[in-house]
Amino acid sequence: MIDPRLDVIGKRLEPVRRIIPVSSAKGGVGKSVCAALLALSFSQGGYRTGLLDLDFQGASAHLLLDVRLEFPEEEAGIKPLRTGNAELDFMSFAAFSREHTVPLRGSEVSQAMLELLAITIWNPLDFLLIDMPPGIGDEIFDVLRYLRHPEFLVVTTPSRLVRHVVERLVAMLSELKVPMVGVIENMVRSGSDSQAAQLAETYGTTLLGSVPFQEGIDDLLAAAAKGDRLPETLANSIRSITARITSADR
Ligand SMILES: Nc1ncnc2c1ncn2[C@@H]1O[C@H](COP(=O)(O)OP(=O)(O)O)[C@@H](O)[C@H]1O
Ligand SMILES: [Mg+2]
Repeated sequence: MIDPRLDVIGKRLEPVRRIIPVSSAKGGVGKSVCAALLALSFSQGGYRTGLLDLDFQGASAHLLLDVRLEFPEEEAGIKPLRTGNAELDFMSFAAFSREHTVPLRGSEVSQAMLELLAITIWNPLDFLLIDMPPGIGDEIFDVLRYLRHPEFLVVTTPSRLVRHVVERLVAMLSELKVPMVGVIENMVRSGSDSQAAQLAETYGTTLLGSVPFQEGIDDLLAAAAKGDRLPETLANSIRSITARITSADR
């Protein structure tokens, strides 16, 4: 059976040039933090940027980017919210659920996600970052099925456990020949034993760079979304990652 939402979602995302799902097989590795950092950096670099939080059960990007969750304006669809000073288009399931817990089963999560993709009217964007939920499951396959040419960005950390699980995701994406924009190693401390470059190389992708471990990063991000500067080492590491992504433009 043909799913009519395929067409609708395709149209909604037509004005978006590059779609980058920020994913990792694991939770708590910094997908949301990296997606928010990248979104801010792209936007500060003059790129039209959006961020879509698809982590229904753990929606948190609005906290990192200090977005006021207003009920979205409707007009034959819904318009993205805007972040304070950061010039970002933003959408999240949290705009509807607010502070309520919404228990959903697997297939219902998929349905909610497709609904959100089908109703959001994106403005013309250079980059749409997607804050993905953890896991190698439905959401990844939905993104692959419904979004035109997503370029996966995979977040790992120096932890051996994390790396082990993340490798499963990278191996799967590589096997399915899904385009990957690269790997980010997050929470890197001096002396960390990095194997991210080797992980990337093994599966035919690149290490985009590393993000240092930074105490209080959630608050620093929220302040940066309001216009404060990020600490220099953090800002530099993100700038070099976004530069690599833009230079790998198709
Ligand atoms: N580079 C970093 N330095 C310090 N803490 C970090 C860093 N990246 C993420 N964190 C912290 O780790 C926790 C999980 O990050 P989050 O982005 O929510 O992970 P995920 O989206 O992968 O579940 C957060 O409390 C965040 O503050
Ligand atoms: Mg998250």
